[in-house]
Order: sequence, then structure tokens, then C-alpha cells
Amino acid sequence: MSDILSHTDHGVTTLTINRLARKNSLTSAMYAALADALEAAKASDETRVVVIQGDESIFSAGNDIADFLNQPPAGEDAPVFRFLRGIATFPKPLVAAVCGPAVGIGTTLLFHCDLVYAGDNAAFSMPFVNLGLCAEGASSLLAPQMFGYHRAAEALLLGEPFYAEAALEVGLVNKVLPPSEANGYAQTVARKLAAKPLSSLVETKRLMKQGQQAQVVQAMQQEGAVFGRMLREPAAREAFSAFMEKRAPDFSKV
Ligand code: COA
Repeated sequence: MSDILSHTDHGVTTLTINRLARKNSLTSAMYAALADALEAAKASDETRVVVIQGDESIFSAGNDIADFLNQPPAGEDAPVFRFLRGIATFPKPLVAAVCGPAVGIGTTLLFHCDLVYAGDNAAFSMPFVNLGLCAEGASSLLAPQMFGYHRAAEALLLGEPFYAEAALEVGLVNKVLPPSEANGYAQTVARKLAAKPLSSLVETKRLMKQGQQAQVVQAMQQEGAVFGRMLREPAAREAFSAFMEKRAPDFSKV
């Protein structure tokens, strides 16, 4: 079975991250599949709304760490950057349902969704610094804007998880539900959106976002250049090796 499932029903295209044995961590191939699916959804008359979801137990463990070690993204056209640009500029409504851990890009992709529903087991984290990396997905711009600087600094510099109620309080999620209800609720809301006039949805989203669309894309490019360099540096290599070897990283020499 594919690691990214896609189906369209009642005007709603649902993309399900489906790699449970690896905690829904995302490989280059999965980013490429997501980027392609978003492009197809943008072009298709069948799709009026897109839902992104994981499993009741896990949304995503973020980038596949073995992939980071073995084939780090190279250049702006790498699948991960294609996916990030695609989600940041997606013109139709995007709804996310998040249960369990949402690590790294599992959290930063949510800044680009219009509505986010979380299970009460959701744990959001952006542990880039702990991995010798830097913010991505325009989170260096959007987290301070949404959370306030000090709470963004806590999330991005300490990199510790924050939970569903805190995410609700800072405005990252719209509603917290029992995990068994989150995906279904997102689907109900998506169908409600899909019944509305598409051009009104698209124009209203465009008008809400237009003030900073260029800044978001620029932040992603700037972050991407630094992130791409840091992936190849000793601190990140040590963090990835430590994860694969199931030991604590030793940053004393980097
Ligand atoms: N990349 C590759 N493999 C991953 C992974 C990732 N991001 N996250 C989890 N896995 C693998 C684990 O290595 C483990 O493999 P194994 O069965 O061969 O030992 C398996 O998935 C299950 O993970 P495990 O850590 O045992 O599950 P858990 O429920 O205890 O913890 C997480 C879940 C998501 C909290 C934890 O796996 C985690 O922190 N993952 C890394 C997240 C990360 O740093 N991502 C990069 C962000 S930029």
C-alpha cells in the first residue's frame, strides 16, 4: 500500500500519511507524492477542498531521519521544498486533522492550513535546533506572528513538545477533539466548505493571504538555503547518527 493515500469524495480530496511502521515520517518520495497530489487537486474540478490527515495515533514524525542522512535535499526543486511551496500557495481551502505526535514539518505544515482540528493526544514539536538544524516551512516568520515572540522562541529554540490545549490557545488549532473523532470532524467541516461557492472561497483565502504571500515564500527560500547547508554539517550528522543508533547525541565536539 502507498505511503500517501489519496481519495476524492463529495468535492473533498483527502491525503492520508500512511507509513505507520516508521511513525508516518516523510521520505523524499512521499514529499513528491504530496506535492504532485496538491498540484493535481489545484487543477482538478473534482476537488474543492483538501484534507491532510494521519492516523489516530500519529500525524507525522517529521522528515525521515535516514533520508536526511543518506539523501539530504539538494536545491530548491527537492521534493520537500516543492511540497512546502505547494502547500503555502495552495489556492483552495486546506483542512488538517492532527492526532498524536506532529514533529518538525508535521507541525510547520499546519501554518499553511486554513483549519486545523487536533486530537487531545496531539503533541506538536519543532525540534530543529536539537537536530543541529534551523527553522523551516516559514516557521521562523509564522510562529512568532501566531504565537508571539517569546512562545515561538520557546517552541523553536528549546524544541520541546507542546500539547493540544496550548496549540488551541496560541491559535495553531481550531478545536480539540477525542482522537477517534478528529479525522471525521475535519471531513465534516471540509464537506461543509465544499458545498460553498468555490470562487468565493478561493478569492477570500487569496485576499486573507495576499499581504504576506511573498514574504512567506521568501522566508521558506532563506530557511531552505540555511537548512540545506546545516543538514551536511557535523552537528546534524551527529544528531541523525545518534537517532539511528538509539543513543543521546554528543554535541561537545561540534
Ligand atoms: N525517521 C526515521 N525513522 C523514524 C522516525 C523518523 N523521523 N521517527 C520514528 N522512526 C522509527 C524509529 O526509529 C522506530 O524504528 P524501529 O522500529 O526500527 O526501532 C520506529 O519508527 C518507531 O519509532 P519510536 O521512536 O519507537 O516510536 P515512539 O512512539 O516511541 O515515538 C516519536 C514516536 C515520533 C515521538 C519518535 O519516534 C520521534 O521522536 N521520532 C523522531 C522525530 C524527529 O526528530 N523528526 C525529525 C524532525 S526534523
